[in-house]
Amino acid sequence: MPSNKLNNTSQRKKEHIELCLTDQVAFKTKSSGFENYDFKHFAITELKISEIELTSSFFGKNVSHPFLISCMTGGTSEAENLNAMLAIAANELNIPIGVGSQRQLLENDNFLDSYKTIRKNAKNIPVIGNIGAAQVANGLSIDKLKYLIDIIEADAFAIHLNPLQEMVQKGGEPDFSGLLKAIEKLVVSQPGIPFIAKEVGAGISKKAAQMLLEAGIKGIDVSGAGGTSWSGVEILRNQKKGISPEEDNLFWDWGLPTSYCIKKVKKLKNKYDFVLVGSGGINNGIDAAKALALGADFVASARLILQQLEKFGIEGVIRLIHNWSDVVRKVMFLTGCRKLKELKKNKLIKLGEMY
Ligand SMILES: Cc1cc2nc3c(=O)[nH]c(=O)nc-3n(C[C@H](O)[C@H](O)[C@H](O)COP(=O)(O)O)c2cc1C
Repeated sequence: MPSNKLNNTSQRKKEHIELCLTDQVAFKTKSSGFENYDFKHFAITELKISEIELTSSFFGKNVSHPFLISCMTGGTSEAENLNAMLAIAANELNIPIGVGSQRQLLENDNFLDSYKTIRKNAKNIPVIGNIGAAQVANGLSIDKLKYLIDIIEADAFAIHLNPLQEMVQKGGEPDFSGLLKAIEKLVVSQPGIPFIAKEVGAGISKKAAQMLLEAGIKGIDVSGAGGTSWSGVEILRNQKKGISPEEDNLFWDWGLPTSYCIKKVKKLKNKYDFVLVGSGGINNGIDAAKALALGADFVASARLILQQLEKFGIEGVIRLIHNWSDVVRKVMFLTGCRKLKELKKNKLIKLGEMY
C-alpha cells in the first residue's frame, strides 16, 4: 500500500499495534482485581476431570471454549496478516473472534482485505463486527452499518464505548451527544443481529449496562481496568509527537476494575437476557476462571493474544487458549463443577473473608 494512502485512521491503527506489542501500555498501579478472590476448594468432589464440559453457545452458535478473541485490528496493511492468523486460530479453536474497528471502511476501501480476511479464514465461527461510539453518535447510517455487517458476514456487532480514549487522543472525538438514541436506532434496524456494547479498558458499570440493555443491546463486554490502558496508549502516541499535556497522566489508570464490573453487571441477569463477557487484563487461566466464576459467560483477551501471536504464531495462540481451558477445567474439578453454569454459583471467597 503506497504511503500516501496511509490516512490518519490507518496510521493510528498501525501505531496502536506497535505499542500494544509492548508492555508499556499496561495499567501502572490499578489491577483487574482478580487477586482479591480465591476459589472454594471442594474436597469431596466426585467428578471425572475428562467429563467436565467447557462447550458453550454464543448467540445460538455452539463453540468449544468460553473464550473469545477481542476486537483488535483492521484498516492497515499490518492488520491483514494479523487478522488472517487470528482467524485461523479462532476457527481451529472453534471460538468467536471480533474484528477491529471498521471505521476505516467508512472512509475508503484501501484496506478492505484486512477485514475480509477474517471471514475468509474463519468460515464456521461467530465473527463480531465493530465500530466506535463516536461514529455511532456522529450519525452512522443504517446503510453504512449494513455494509459493515455484510462485508464480514458478521454474526454479531460490537459498538465500542471509549470516551476516555477519545478524550486523551490528539484529534479524538470526545462528543457522544445522542449516543444512546443512536444505538437504539441501529439496534432496531437489524433485528437479526445481536449487538454487543464493549468498553476498551475502562469498564462498564451496572448503571451503564442497564441503559444499554434497555436500548436493546444483547451483549455486554465490560472490558475493565487492569489490562491495557487505552489512555496510556494515546499518551505514549502523543508523547512521541511532543504534545502530551502533563495532566493526561492523571488518567492513565482511570477506570473500573474488570472483576468489579463483572460482579456488578451480573446482577442484571435477573432482569435481562444477555451475554456477559469479562475482559480487560485477563492474563492467565486462573484470571479467566475467576471471571467466569464471578458471572461472565465468556472471557475475552486482546493484547496478550496479540503478543502471543507475534512471539509464537498461530500455534502459540491455539496453545494459549487450550492452556487456559485446561486451567479452567482443573479449577472446575477442584471446586466440584461439571458445567460452566455451576462455576458461577458461589465458588469464590473474597480474600479478606478467609483470614
Ligand atoms: C492492538 C489493539 C487494538 C484494539 N482495537 C480495538 C478496536 O478497534 N475496537 C475495539 O472495540 N477494541 C479494540 N481494542 C481493545 C480490546 O478489544 C480490549 O477491550 C482492551 O484492549 C482490553 O483488553 P486487554 O486488557 O486484554 O488488552 C484493541 C486492543 C488492542 C490490543
